[in-house]
Amino acid sequence: MLTLNTGDILARESDRKTLSENLTAAHSALKARTCPGAAFTDWLTWPRDGDKQEYDRLKAAAARIRADSRALVVIGIGGSYLGARAVVEALASPQYNLKKKSTPDIYFVGNNLSAAHLHEVIELIGNRDFSVNVISKSGTTTEPAVAFRLFKALLVEKYGKGGARARIYATTDKAKGALRDMAEREGYETFVIPDGIGGRYSVLTPVGLLPIAVAGIDTDALLDGALSAMNALDASGLETNPAWQYAAARNLLYRQGKTIEILAFYEPGLRFLGEWWKQLFGESEGKQGKGVFPASVELTADLHSMGQYIQEGRRDLFETVLSVDAPDAAVEAPFDPDNADGLNFLAGLSLFDINRRAMEATRLAHVDGGVPNLVLALPRLDAWNLGELLYFFMLACALSGLALGVNPFDQPGVEAYKVNMFALLGKPGYEAQGEALRKRLGG
Ligand code: PA5
Repeated sequence: MLTLNTGDILARESDRKTLSENLTAAHSALKARTCPGAAFTDWLTWPRDGDKQEYDRLKAAAARIRADSRALVVIGIGGSYLGARAVVEALASPQYNLKKKSTPDIYFVGNNLSAAHLHEVIELIGNRDFSVNVISKSGTTTEPAVAFRLFKALLVEKYGKGGARARIYATTDKAKGALRDMAEREGYETFVIPDGIGGRYSVLTPVGLLPIAVAGIDTDALLDGALSAMNALDASGLETNPAWQYAAARNLLYRQGKTIEILAFYEPGLRFLGEWWKQLFGESEGKQGKGVFPASVELTADLHSMGQYIQEGRRDLFETVLSVDAPDAAVEAPFDPDNADGLNFLAGLSLFDINRRAMEATRLAHVDGGVPNLVLALPRLDAWNLGELLYFFMLACALSGLALGVNPFDQPGVEAYKVNMFALLGKPGYEAQGEALRKRLGG
């Protein structure tokens, strides 16, 4: 089980009492599905209640893709791709595509509007066999929809209409939306984005699981870890429930003016877990002029870029260190007879131990510099423990948002840029806004 060390952040009895009351109310309303956004809380019991038949079909589709494709193009943005990429990078490798392996390369596209990126992925796939998993609830999100047009055309060109149909897997709404309509019309195999689960809470549904399974990751273990977290974190109690403790600590720190949280990790494979976490907390809490701003750093690398700011910049930060307690590779610092760098005192030490000392040293320096510190420790980085962690973060995020007084399951602010973009691109129906915006831009 993961553990959370909140140091002395929750030491005061009076703080604990208030936070406990807030969290009791938040957790009860969440479980009773009476909280704001209750219609989007099915992730709460998904590890137990998810559709088993669909899951078996998903595993069969992943096996088919592994057998007939050397590359899988995953098309989606935000909650429709960050979870899958986080898990693939954490458990397979951030350099997954460069590794010698029996599973297909995985390219994540449709998460930007960069011509260079799309062009490069098309070149990298070359004439290899590939399949596409397009993931979109609506089917009309510009970034993935444009990418899907491109890759669908490439598939049709390479395999013909029938061949393309067999290589397109659409993960979308069960009944409505542009992608659902197209999938029905064209006869694609489909997987469902459940109605009651928003994008950023969807990593354990087919949204995340199909690409994760294609990468050869043990999805059973991932779901088992999440199920274990679901059972363990169901009980109320600030003294015993780490999800409560995390939600309580960040709410208390926020009220004390620590409005920026930095998720710090010492394994490069966790970089996209940081991206997923940022969307989860940022989109859930950042509304009505409120919310902790989530940032992430990959250490020790970023100690040489962001370290100065964390140590001595504005004191509105707190840090959550994600620690992995077991090594997954044995590498030792070598002895060098010249000792030009003066580092022979490290010779024979494992990199794992050196990395841990760096983590401990940094943590203490940051605390001394006025940056409160929490440590979230995973026994090891494997599918089971990651499943547990993903569920932990989702529950803690929901509790934290509810305790803050916001609806952690909506994202009304995401629409603003879309309206402007459509207006500037000339989408029919947006003419008046387009004219007003062009004036503001001086055009
Ligand atoms: O979390 C969310 O809801 C968003 O990040 C969406 O997943 C994202 O905007 C993509 O939307 P769609 O799945 O409709 O293409």
